[in-house]
Amino acid sequence: MSEPSRVDHTRPTPLPIVPMTDRERLSGPLPAPRSSFVGRTKEIAELRRPLDGSDVRLVTLTGPGGAGKTRAALRLAAELEPGYADGAAFISLAAHPRADLVLPAIAQALGVRQTGSRSLSDQLVIALRDAHFLLIVDNFEHLLAAATVISTVLDAFPAVTVLVTSRTPVRLAGEHVYAIQPMTVPEAGTSLADLAEADSIQLFAARARAALANFRLTATNAPDVARICHRVDGLPLAIELAAARVTVLSPAALLSR
Ligand SMILES: Nc1ncnc2c1ncn2[C@@H]1O[C@H](COP(=O)(O)OP(=O)(O)O)[C@@H](O)[C@H]1O
Ligand SMILES: [Mg+2]
Repeated sequence: MSEPSRVDHTRPTPLPIVPMTDRERLSGPLPAPRSSFVGRTKEIAELRRPLDGSDVRLVTLTGPGGAGKTRAALRLAAELEPGYADGAAFISLAAHPRADLVLPAIAQALGVRQTGSRSLSDQLVIALRDAHFLLIVDNFEHLLAAATVISTVLDAFPAVTVLVTSRTPVRLAGEHVYAIQPMTVPEAGTSLADLAEADSIQLFAARARAALANFRLTATNAPDVARICHRVDGLPLAIELAAARVTVLSPAALLSR
């Protein structure tokens, strides 16, 4: 007598899921910044603390435009990535200006394509349920409606950590908010050695050197550089813009403008 058929036709056909052990790391390389990274040692250490070994899974870097959120997030991601079996993926919401494009962007960043009749989000969830990766979502403030997508990602992928940059918090349960402060600016009267240690002065000097190869921080110009950094409230973007002008104006002349 033949066995009754055990095929359960009510269950969907399983997808050809690549076992975790066989597959390469999911993600491609993180975006490579075109300029050197400066300082932020304390910030990176403080950001790592909740992520190392605790159950914080959503960290949001907040701050005004130009404060250095994206650079800090990329730096942190580069440090953390080796600890994630499936790597890290970066998506910028500036490039995906609709909430319904966020999940497809995540799928694309992770190399999951839609095949057959199943929805892309189902496919993503099935393929990556156990994936251990770091997802960086940049420029979240453009798309507050994407909060539900981030919530879905956190629920669907229990081993995923999400790092968001945004002018304002995402406002989801379990979110760890970290405000990126302006770069520290020492008083102009501080010694050259101490001035040269400050993030703001280092950023100015690095960008001034990129614009003008023979630019050097000296006991004469360093106090003016500190005053310029004060004038722009230590905002990295503004420091870079000021430093780029050393090709036409000395720090002292720049300050008098
Ligand atoms: N720690 C840093 N080292 C080097 N450059 C920085 C740093 N922080 C910010 N910048 C530069 O300042 C500008 C603004 O930084 P960004 O990360 O884009 O700010 P935000 O994402 O907050 O708008 C960028 O050109 C960036 O490269
Ligand atoms: Mg940014």
